[in-house]
Amino acid sequence: MPATLSITGTTRVYGVIADPIAHVRAPMVFNPLFEQKGTDAVMVPVHAPADRLETVLDGLKAQPNFGGLAVTVPHKLAIMELCDEVGRQGRLVGAVNAVRFDEKRQMIGDNFDGAGFVAGMRAEGHEVTGRSVLQLGAGGAGRAIAFALADAGVSRLVIHNRTRAKAEELAAAVSAAYPQVPVSVGAAEPDGCEIVVNTTSAGLHDSDPLPINRDFLVPGLLVAEIIMIPERTALLESALERGCKIQFGRHMLDKQIDLIGGFLRCFQ
Ligand code: ATR
Repeated sequence: MPATLSITGTTRVYGVIADPIAHVRAPMVFNPLFEQKGTDAVMVPVHAPADRLETVLDGLKAQPNFGGLAVTVPHKLAIMELCDEVGRQGRLVGAVNAVRFDEKRQMIGDNFDGAGFVAGMRAEGHEVTGRSVLQLGAGGAGRAIAFALADAGVSRLVIHNRTRAKAEELAAAVSAAYPQVPVSVGAAEPDGCEIVVNTTSAGLHDSDPLPINRDFLVPGLLVAEIIMIPERTALLESALERGCKIQFGRHMLDKQIDLIGGFLRCFQ
């Protein structure tokens, strides 16, 4: 039964806010979960062009039955600036991907990209606390994951990025926020690290180079992806061939959905 058939006057409304809007996936993910869990809620697409973002948010805020938003491109930064309160990861990353309207209709935002990655690893039996990690990439996703790995208490974090200056900036920011965690910039070589996580976009397309030389993929190393499609990136294929353990990209999204749903209180 489609979720829309069970909408009544008591249904709490949530949204996913974006521009463009047609590609968003949150309604297809959350509405079946609401059905499964028997939650009286619906997730709808909210199309907010950048120049009308504040007007749209003011309107949603004024609706007592509107619970909050999953936030996606291009609004993650702009909405953070409009929030009344932002959680630590959101502040560190400089972007929010979920916003809740509380009982006073204040906007509370946070970022669950990195926490989703860490929870996804744990769900697959891969603890990161106390482990040494080589992170490839220092883009948007890499930023969130680096802070979350430090927050989880990795024993060492080495960041490599094609553009070294971005790795240096990120390593300095993570180090300032988590001084107890040794963070450095390094080459694309595990150099004793137990986990390699690819946060670069290399792997999305067949023609992409491997983000790390396959000779460095040694048995026992855990190689984690955040790319979801293809599920088996060239990096993961090489890692399997070389006897490494692997972690698929989809676990990060699965766990983010749990975390965002919990934050929005929409699974209650
Ligand atoms: P996202 O929001 O998905 O993280 P992004 O912010 O554009 O996307 O970051 C993309 C990351 O992939 C960056 O770390 C980028 O490296 P640069 O900072 O040097 O651009 C990295 N990246 C993209 N293509 C790559 C490639 N072919 N080899 C290595 N790194 C690559």
